[in-house]
Amino acid sequence: MKILFVITGGIAEYKVVEAVRFQIKAGNQVRVVMTSMAERFVTPLTFSTLTNNIVYDDFDSDTENPVAHVALADWADQIVIAPATANFIGKMANGIADDFASTVVIASHAIKKVLPAMNVNMWNNPSVQRNMKQLRDDGVLILEPDNGLLAEGYSGKGRFPSSDVVNQFINDPQNKILSGKRIVVTAGGTREAIDPVRFIGNKSSGKMGFAIAEVASQLGAKVTLITGPTKLKITNESKIKRIDIESVADLQEALDQNISGADVLIMAAAVSDYRVAQISDHKMKKDDFNGKLSLELVENPDVLASLKRPKSLKYVAGFAAETNDLLVNASRKIIKKNLNMIIANDVGNPQIGFNSNENEVTIIRPNQANIVISKNEKKVVAEKILKLVAEEID
Ligand SMILES: Cc1cc2nc3c(=O)[nH]c(=O)nc-3n(C[C@H](O)[C@H](O)[C@H](O)COP(=O)(O)O)c2cc1C
Repeated sequence: MKILFVITGGIAEYKVVEAVRFQIKAGNQVRVVMTSMAERFVTPLTFSTLTNNIVYDDFDSDTENPVAHVALADWADQIVIAPATANFIGKMANGIADDFASTVVIASHAIKKVLPAMNVNMWNNPSVQRNMKQLRDDGVLILEPDNGLLAEGYSGKGRFPSSDVVNQFINDPQNKILSGKRIVVTAGGTREAIDPVRFIGNKSSGKMGFAIAEVASQLGAKVTLITGPTKLKITNESKIKRIDIESVADLQEALDQNISGADVLIMAAAVSDYRVAQISDHKMKKDDFNGKLSLELVENPDVLASLKRPKSLKYVAGFAAETNDLLVNASRKIIKKNLNMIIANDVGNPQIGFNSNENEVTIIRPNQANIVISKNEKKVVAEKILKLVAEEID
C-alpha cells in the first residue's frame, strides 16, 4: 500500500511521527507532504529520515518533476491527513488549493482519511462542524478526535487518538472490502413516454442509488451505474461507468449488456410498472379530447425476472419502496423476485426516502433477523448495506 501522509500544523504532530514509522515498519511505501505551518512543529528532517525520501512542502520540492502535485496524487492509494487542522479541513471541504498540500489532496482520487485534532472550542465551532459534514458527504473517512485533556490545558473533544486506534484506522481493510468485485447499481426513476414531450415518471431522485455506487467504488468495487434521468453527478466520475437510460425497456437493455461478469446487482431504481400502450408520435393537443383523456397502460416486464443472471452473479439486492405494510410487502418481494436482500424504505415519510439526503431502512434477508438502519445520511446507509453484502459474498 502506498500511503501519503499530509501533515498540517497542529500540536499533535509529534504523534504522527510514530504513525509514519509504524506504517513503514508494516511494509507500506510512505511519503510525506507538510504544510509550512506543520514544519514549525516538527522539522522535515525527521520525516525525510524516516521515509528515506524527500518531504514535499512546495511546488518545487521535487526538482525532477515540475508537476509533483499530480504525480504524488496519482501515486497514493491512500492519503492520510494527520493531524488535520481546522484550517486544512476547511480548505478540503471548500475545494481550496492554495498551497502544495491542499493541491495534492484535491488532485487525488485516492481514499482520503482525515484525523482532526484541535482545541475543543475550535472543534465545536459551527463552521468546523459544517466542514466536517461536508467531508463526510464527499466520502472522506474520518477518525473522530478523542475526549480528554488537550495540550493547552483545556479538557474536551479534540485530542488526537491513541496510536493503536490511529494505526488500526489507517490500516483498516474496510476501505477495500469490495476490491476485485464488479457491482452493477441501478438508480433513479424511469420515464415512460406518452408523446414526444410528456412522460409518466416517479419521484425517485436517484440519491440512494448514487450513494451506493459511490461508496461501492470507494470500497474498491468496479461499479457500473445505470441511472434514470437525474441532475445528480458522480463525485468520483473516472472510476464509475455511468449509463443513462429513460424507460424500463432501456433499463432492461442496459442491464443485459452490462451484467456479464458482475458479482453483485443492486436495484435501487424506481421502475415503472406500466407503460403507455401507444406512444403518440406527435404532441397531443388539449382540445382533441373533449375534456377527458384516457391513456391505455400495459404492464412492463419484470426486469429482474427476465434478466438472464450470469454465473458470476452471487448476490442480488433490491429496494422496496412502500407507503404501507412495508415489511409484509417487502418480504413477499424477496421470495417472488429471488433476492438475497431487500432494503425496505417507507417512502410515505417525507423526512426520509425520495429526494431526501437521509434514509431509514430495514434490511430483510431470508432466514436472518431483520436489521434496522436508523435515520442517517444516504452514504452512511449505503456503507452499512455494502458491508453486509461484502460479508455475504466473501
Ligand atoms: C502552538 C500552536 C498549536 C496549534 N495547534 C493546532 C491544533 O492542534 N489544531 C488546529 O487545527 N490548529 C492548531 N493551530 C493553528 C494552526 O497552526 C493554524 O490554523 C494554521 O494556519 C494551520 O495551517 P495549516 O492548516 O496550513 O497547517 C496551532 C497553532 C499554534 C501556534
